[in-house]
Amino acid sequence: MSVIEINHPLVQHKLTLLRNKDAETKLFRETLTEITGLMTYEATKDFKLKDTEVETPIMKTTAKILADKVAVVPILRAGLGMVEGVTTFIPTAKIGHIGVYRDEETLQPVYYYCKLPENIAEMKVLLVDPMLATGGSAIYSIDYLKEAGVKDISFMCIIAAPEGIAKVIEKHPDVDIFVGKMDQGLDENSYIYPGLGDCGDRIFGTK
Ligand code: URA
Repeated sequence: MSVIEINHPLVQHKLTLLRNKDAETKLFRETLTEITGLMTYEATKDFKLKDTEVETPIMKTTAKILADKVAVVPILRAGLGMVEGVTTFIPTAKIGHIGVYRDEETLQPVYYYCKLPENIAEMKVLLVDPMLATGGSAIYSIDYLKEAGVKDISFMCIIAAPEGIAKVIEKHPDVDIFVGKMDQGLDENSYIYPGLGDCGDRIFGTK
C-alpha cells in the first residue's frame, strides 16, 4: 500500500483552475476530466502487459497489450466527473457505480445504488471520487468491492484531507491511493480546506 501524490506540473496547474470559485461549469468539468486522465497515466504505470500479434503495413510482429481487464468505479455522485478521464485512456474499461451514505442514527452504511460489472473480481479496479474528506464513502466503497471479491483496488482522488487518508489507510492498508493534492484539513462541516467547495455541485452546476 502507498499514498502517491501526483506532483506533475500539469496536474498542479489544472488543480488551481479547479479551485477558482469563478470557474464555469464547462471549464470545471473539462479540467476535472483532464486531471483524471493525467492521474490515470500515473496510476496505471505498473499495469501488466502481454504479447499479441499485430500486422503492420510492413510485416507481422509481436507487440504488447494490457494483460488485465480494468473497471472504473465512481462513487456517486461526484465520482461520475472522473469517469471520462479514465475511459479516454482505457476505452475498454467497464464502469461500475457505488452510491452509499452513512445512516446518522444507526451509523451504518446504506448502499442506495450499486451496480458492478460481471466478473469484477478478476479485474483491476480504479475507484474514483474527487474529494477524499472524512474517508467514510471511500472505506464503505472499498468494503463493498472487497465483498464482491475484488482483490486489486486503486483509489484515485483529486484532493484529499490528511484525516481521510489516515482512515482509509488504517481500514484498507492494501489499497494504493493516488492523490492530486493533499490539502490542509477538514473544517467543521467536513469540507476540505482550501479545497474547491462542493465538487458534485460544481460538476453538475447544481449551485
Ligand atoms: N466533498 C466535497 O465535494 N467537497 C469537500 O470539500 C468535501 C467533500
